[in-house]
Amino acid sequence: MVINVKNNVDWVGKIDWELRSFHGSDYSTHRGSSYNSYLVREEKTVLIDTVWLPYAEEFVENLDRHVGLDNIDYLIANHGEVDHSGALPALMAKRPDLPIYCTAKAVDSLKGQYHEDWNFNVVKTGDSIDIGNGKKLVFVEMTMLHWPDSMATYLTGDNILFSNDAFGQHYATTGLFNDLADISELEYEAMKYYANILTPFSAILRKKLADIIGMNLPIDIIATSHGVIWRDNPVQIVEKYAAWADDYKENRITIVYDTMWDGTRSLADTIAAGIHEADPSVTVKVFNISKGDRNDIITEVFRSKMLIVGSPTVGNNMLSTMAGLLHFVKELKFKKKKAAAFGCYGWTGEAPKIMSEFLQTAGFEIVSEPLRQKWNPDQNNLKEVFEYGKKLAKA
Ligand code: FEO
Repeated sequence: MVINVKNNVDWVGKIDWELRSFHGSDYSTHRGSSYNSYLVREEKTVLIDTVWLPYAEEFVENLDRHVGLDNIDYLIANHGEVDHSGALPALMAKRPDLPIYCTAKAVDSLKGQYHEDWNFNVVKTGDSIDIGNGKKLVFVEMTMLHWPDSMATYLTGDNILFSNDAFGQHYATTGLFNDLADISELEYEAMKYYANILTPFSAILRKKLADIIGMNLPIDIIATSHGVIWRDNPVQIVEKYAAWADDYKENRITIVYDTMWDGTRSLADTIAAGIHEADPSVTVKVFNISKGDRNDIITEVFRSKMLIVGSPTVGNNMLSTMAGLLHFVKELKFKKKKAAAFGCYGWTGEAPKIMSEFLQTAGFEIVSEPLRQKWNPDQNNLKEVFEYGKKLAKA
């Protein structure tokens, strides 16, 4: 499939309808994804990025049919990760002379992954190549957005920013443009992508957005490497990224727990009720980590001003499901969020304190002593838990 983006720019990528997890099993992709590759045909013909390895042969065959492999003059590798570079070995086997333009770090990653000494040409921010008809491709390093090797490429004349992973979404659709997509699905997937992948790099992103704005490049289209292309008011996703990068939070509280015999679950439900009683304007959501999707839960945490976690105590610690979630929470380096912890126990009851201390080291402001409940709560206990929820709402 080939889709025209604008003038002499075509999408030549792959829509992956059946993908249900990405980065191994680290990211759930309920709506599939796409690997967006672009072909620019001016006096020079340029391929920007390729597709994931399983689709390499299909990609190269389509490209050959569409343009003829011998007619490609340059290849731009905005990012070395295998979902965009996976077709390089198949393509380079047929065009071993093809010049590849990428950052120095991308040379490192591509050589490290494919063990080939291809015709690499290292570029830095502000470097450009002339592709004829008065147009240039200008390179912008996007270091740590989200890999050290990432960069974006800007096409003058058509004013298209090929942003690679930035501004993308794991979202399969033939309506490849934002004005054709289901807006609620698109906005959710864009936020989920930011929350689960880009949150740790928010400070870098704030600076990079300022740098890009400072370059005064007119941007008519943002052509991402996953999901839809932003052509209708592309500034909207830049503005959203600016808001998300600014320690984003809404008037929401997320409670995440796991439970063995429903004691900790009853605490979670009662804390939620107490919060609602104290402040009905707060959106409270409650998730059992063993029954919910981890990446969707992280998206809720990203939107929240407070995270409240619950686990019974097993082996003097929290349940391993909760430990896995908190490990991910720490990795994401959330800023300016509050937290508290709770849990039922029968014998020693260390879990709430351990979770609370862990969240403090992860950068959360702990707003209350951990709530510990010995054995199952009775009605009097639940009244106290309800009051605890009210107190958290006011924290
Ligand atoms: Fe960082 Fe879409 O790869």
